[in-house]
Amino acid sequence: MSTHYREVDLVIRGAKVVSPDQIIEASVAIAGEHIVAVGHDDTMPPARQEMRADGLYLLPGAIDSHVHFRDPGYPNKETWRTGSAAAACGGVTTVFEMPNTNPPTGTIEALNLKLKAAESSYCDFGIHGLLGDDTIDHLEDLLEAGVTSFKAFVGNTFGNLPSPTDGALLEGFEKLAPLGIRTVVHAENSSIMARRQKRLVEAGRMDVHAHLAARPSVCEIEAIGRVLTLAEWAGARVHIAHHSAADSLFVIRAAKLRGVDVTVETCPQYMLLSTDDFTRFGGIMRVNPPIREKRHNQPLWDALMDGTIDMIATDHAPHTDEEQTRADIFKCDCGFPGVETQMPLMLTEVNRGRASLMDYVKWSSVAPAKAWGIYGTKGVIAPGAHADIAIVDLNRSGVLSQGKLQSISKLNPWNGRAVQGYPLHTLLRGRFVMRDGKLVTDAVGWGKSVKGIQKMPTPQPRNTHLYSSAILETPAGTAPHALPAGYPLPAVETEAAS
Ligand code: NCD
Ligand code: ZN
Repeated sequence: MSTHYREVDLVIRGAKVVSPDQIIEASVAIAGEHIVAVGHDDTMPPARQEMRADGLYLLPGAIDSHVHFRDPGYPNKETWRTGSAAAACGGVTTVFEMPNTNPPTGTIEALNLKLKAAESSYCDFGIHGLLGDDTIDHLEDLLEAGVTSFKAFVGNTFGNLPSPTDGALLEGFEKLAPLGIRTVVHAENSSIMARRQKRLVEAGRMDVHAHLAARPSVCEIEAIGRVLTLAEWAGARVHIAHHSAADSLFVIRAAKLRGVDVTVETCPQYMLLSTDDFTRFGGIMRVNPPIREKRHNQPLWDALMDGTIDMIATDHAPHTDEEQTRADIFKCDCGFPGVETQMPLMLTEVNRGRASLMDYVKWSSVAPAKAWGIYGTKGVIAPGAHADIAIVDLNRSGVLSQGKLQSISKLNPWNGRAVQGYPLHTLLRGRFVMRDGKLVTDAVGWGKSVKGIQKMPTPQPRNTHLYSSAILETPAGTAPHALPAGYPLPAVETEAAS
């Protein structure tokens, strides 16, 4: 196979190549943007550049389904340049970016602003367009103009985009199901949260626990249940963002058993942090959905293990120091940066024996690649795939330090945490974007949209004869009014005058 290539650009020798099924000792040859051979060292073609990677692991670059790069709108929090630099330095080669920017990604103009900003990206990307009451009528146009997928904010969060009404959400699903496109859903019940937050504010609560008190797990249970009901009926593909609670897993399990095409992400903060950390980090830990009691941590791991949860995303949600450290918890902006720290955090847990490296690759790369229709070109180290590779040292240990982050936003509850396992180098389509732990600044702008390689599986719409688009015509042979012409009406009796 490799003999077809006279000379390739790079051969990485002596590493262990990781997939969900196996870890094999192999060398990898790269020509241009693609992997061209994976195999025994002796079979590698001659190369312009050789790299020894003895003792290191080659992982398909991580694919983060949930990042906020804030551009356009909030360049004080993050830009595409800084956010994608953080991704590159975290072993993340593809991100899917969220629409709660300003303007929100619900119009072609706003999408074009975002695509322009993304020209400085260090990583490949997909764009989640906004699914809301006002955008339902141009979802197809947004897809044509470059969005890969949609996001519905079913639950209030940063940006204060209104929740789509249930009617609009269903109509959106009816439009996207026949196209096979997947919609990310932030699933928390807005009405419950708003009412509880009002009560808490009136009672003078401003402490870190008040945020969790406003958003109990019933909000997640109810919203996931509602969203899955609508998606299942329409045959639409959905993706549950940042699943946070043990209590809501049963809803997902039941839906998956029925064959609903739902993928689910959780984030390191829900698996590794809890209310026990509130005293140490205070308002910096405010995030939607909230970080919950410790009893939620292990069930989320178990759910990843049994496939109820499919993947790890980060919900990289940068804000400024001032916005994260206000005295009143309800005035702190929600979220913190995470795209750069996910891999060391998770590799540390692999080192602790809580999952295998093969499990990790499934959650960090394979499952997201499949969910967004880019698997094969991404999510795998094999001939023909993009050379998107995180070269990892499982032995290197260190301490996460907010001061070292590429992100503009620094404050996060991982600061000071001891980790073991780091990405040392990141390759994106054959090019180093991080080398020896340092950002390769020349690679700015090397990232591009995955739109061109996206191929979602065959759509599986259901109940199409009942879609709003199908019910507008009066059935043939039916009277145009409810009452047939000439229907005998009873005479109206007038009251006798007294
Ligand atoms: C996110 C943000 O800041 O954009 N914040 C958060 O708390 N998670 C929005 C979101 O994903 O809900
Ligand atoms: Zn969200």
